[in-house]
Amino acid sequence: MASTDRKHANGEDKLVFSLRRERGLASSYLYLFQEFWCPGIAIEGVESFQNYFEAKDSDVVVASFPKTGTTWLIALTFAIVNRKHFSEENHPLLTSNPHTLVSCLEFKIFCDEIHDPLLHLSTMLEPRLFSTHTPFTALPKSLIQSNAKIIYICRNPFDTFVSAWTYFNKIRSMSLPALGLEEAFEMYCDGIVSFGPWWSHMLGYWKESMARPNKVLFLKYEDLKENVNFYVKNIAEFLGCPFTAEEESDGEIESIIELCSFEKMKELEVNISGKLDKFIDNKLFFRKGEIGDWVNYFSPSMINKLSRIIEEKLSGSGLSFNMCS
Ligand code: A3P
Repeated sequence: MASTDRKHANGEDKLVFSLRRERGLASSYLYLFQEFWCPGIAIEGVESFQNYFEAKDSDVVVASFPKTGTTWLIALTFAIVNRKHFSEENHPLLTSNPHTLVSCLEFKIFCDEIHDPLLHLSTMLEPRLFSTHTPFTALPKSLIQSNAKIIYICRNPFDTFVSAWTYFNKIRSMSLPALGLEEAFEMYCDGIVSFGPWWSHMLGYWKESMARPNKVLFLKYEDLKENVNFYVKNIAEFLGCPFTAEEESDGEIESIIELCSFEKMKELEVNISGKLDKFIDNKLFFRKGEIGDWVNYFSPSMINKLSRIIEEKLSGSGLSFNMCS
């Protein structure tokens, strides 16, 4: 079913006009759709993903809130899952941006770019790897009920905000004025950011990872930075393809870590001059890649305010963050 057909069949245009909307960080508006703030351009994609996606038990979905380390995690997952297929010298991650190798379900697969998403999905080799920013509560039933695996990454909300503010200002429509730090911060504190509120997003996946640890692996950017070796093994085990003793002694884990490292990926020609699509340059996915850069942006009152929100929203959940390296 072509995307435009779906749009008309769903009465998509009417739907958007009926939703509450607020100004967005990147786009003119975000729409309150199924209890999360959805960019207008993603509503059709999320709905089609929900209505038409048929999960396979072998599927792997990397889920994240934007700017929390998605690019890194999809690169690692791709490299882990496909480690038998590619040599170090000819690895696709050397010539393709990770987002080209692992497509986002709502933005790439179920959107106008792919004429027939179902045909495309049916011809993908297994295990199929995808990414998504869709909140857990809005994922298609088929994905939740199948044995498909979900790996979620989140990041401390201070660094996520700085990463989002800098990124969204760069991809923001030319017709819109740049968004100041304070203004963007208020929107972030109100939860009005793409796929937000961010606390609901992380708590949705967090709770599911507690209830079904074999279904959802919950990772933190800071933990990966501190001990990526452990988490590469952890991901491989979770996906049912643990490293053998021989692979470990051959240095396969270290090769994957090196291939997917911030320093290596940022310097690749494809990530310096390539484009994901006509709006997004690949280089925008690689800024500083650090824990704690927020200290260069936050005033004392911003620290107080965001700390209070984190305390209030996450209290009792058991979820906490390392804010500095
Ligand atoms: P900063 O803006 O703080 O530098 P996403 O991939 O979800 O869009 O997140 C982008 C953030 O992850 C950016 O953070 C980016 O620099 C960082 N990042 C991208 N690739 C990375 C990698 N290979 N290792 C560590 N961090 C990475």
